[in-house]
Amino acid sequence: MASSSIQGSCSSNITPTPARRHRNRPLGVSSDREPFRSLSFSSHLHSLSLKSLGQRLHVQPFKTSAVVRAECSPEKMQIDISLSPRVNSVKPSKTVAITDQATALAQAGVPVIRLAAGEPDFDTPAVIAEAGINAIREGYTRYTPNAGTLELRKAICHKLKEENGLTYTPDQILVSNGAKQCILQAVLAVCSPGDEVIIPAPFWVSYPEMARLADATPVVLPTQISENFLLDPKLLASKLTEKSRLLILCSPSNPTGSVYPRKLLEEIADIVARHPRLLVLSDEIYEHIIYAPATHTSFASLPGMWERTLTVNGFSKAFAMTGWRLGYLAGPKHFVAACGKIQSQFTSGASSISQKAGVAALGLGYAGGEAVSTMVKAFQERRDFLVKSFKELEGVKISEPQGAFYLFLDFSSYYGAEVEGFGLIKGSDSLCRYLLDKAQVALVPGDAFGDDNCIRISYAASLSTLQAAMERIKGAMALLKRPVPA
Ligand SMILES: Cc1ncc(COP(=O)(O)O)c(C=O)c1O
Repeated sequence: MASSSIQGSCSSNITPTPARRHRNRPLGVSSDREPFRSLSFSSHLHSLSLKSLGQRLHVQPFKTSAVVRAECSPEKMQIDISLSPRVNSVKPSKTVAITDQATALAQAGVPVIRLAAGEPDFDTPAVIAEAGINAIREGYTRYTPNAGTLELRKAICHKLKEENGLTYTPDQILVSNGAKQCILQAVLAVCSPGDEVIIPAPFWVSYPEMARLADATPVVLPTQISENFLLDPKLLASKLTEKSRLLILCSPSNPTGSVYPRKLLEEIADIVARHPRLLVLSDEIYEHIIYAPATHTSFASLPGMWERTLTVNGFSKAFAMTGWRLGYLAGPKHFVAACGKIQSQFTSGASSISQKAGVAALGLGYAGGEAVSTMVKAFQERRDFLVKSFKELEGVKISEPQGAFYLFLDFSSYYGAEVEGFGLIKGSDSLCRYLLDKAQVALVPGDAFGDDNCIRISYAASLSTLQAAMERIKGAMALLKRPVPA
């Protein structure tokens, strides 16, 4: 179909091509009789009525192709709005979708407790915020070097040396608009089409999709809750081939909160060392949110691993700076320069203001000093409360998190339960929809993280909010009749 451009402002009607349904996206609400079954967590909340929560969550079918009729008087044009296969191969982030839905419900007056987002509920520490404000006042508002200011990269080198025992020079550091950008650029820079990206599950939602964006193949390695969701080195050894290009490790982990002990990382390093093509991306963004006696080990600090490790870290989580969009990558110059080349054509350098704030954050002292340790204490108190509360809930399996601010709970003993007016709880997706409807608590289904047995609860919320959420969840779960095990 020929494309045309529309001049000036005009309204448009989107007419779907004959109903095509995406593999991963169920259709929206269908009939009055089964209003819940057809709900899906969609990043679009197209229509919002206020009859019941089920009816409020109207979502439209995912359309892969459509024709836009532009109503620009006098002539009408047709435009091909089909998308590239690259877009269609990627799933939208479920955490973002659910967070958006919960926010829309809250804005519509529904008292939803939002425990889906991976975002600290604290304000950015005042010293950091002041540094940002001063940057604006002092006119520090221009482009910075693509890789980040020398001041910030030096501060990052100092941090990595002091806290992680890693030696880097500023030309081995790339500052980006968030750790997410660092990871995507690294995957794009090192993976060729057909390469395999090894990802232990449960995984952060973006890893497999980033591999797909690079035309690489995600190879997901399951872990067990009984093993605290830690990768079994034997399984890793059995899955590595000459196509294996990148192993992604995340410790402390989103979504499980697991922390890899040094000894296990050493075993993994021994296996990695046998595969010359294999690189490791070590996502250490939750490094400071860790609960004693657990300690953090940087993978690059292990013998022989510096040369093949790309370490990613950032400011979003520990410093409560999600909106500042600041992260960084450290690694051998060859790889960092390649990532920088991509960044130079994507976005250029990160915000000059955020970089000044980043320098202030690193100036807070070892591991973020008191400002960060106060937040970590609060997270720990919340974790302890939730672990205790969920232990009281029959049939729920828990691996006590050692870091980050998530609990990843196995609710699979409830799958197969029926509830009047809702239907069958088939898996993590329907359980989360049920809890959103009945308890008005927004959580993320484990299938988004590669483990349908579980659901993720973020405890980046005040203790009183978590107490209220817990009451609601317990009430809703009490209505579910767990199926009798065969
Ligand atoms: C494991 C993990 N890595 C990276 C990121 C990205 O963080 P940033 O805000 O720096 O892009 C997140 C954010 O949720 C995360 O959970």
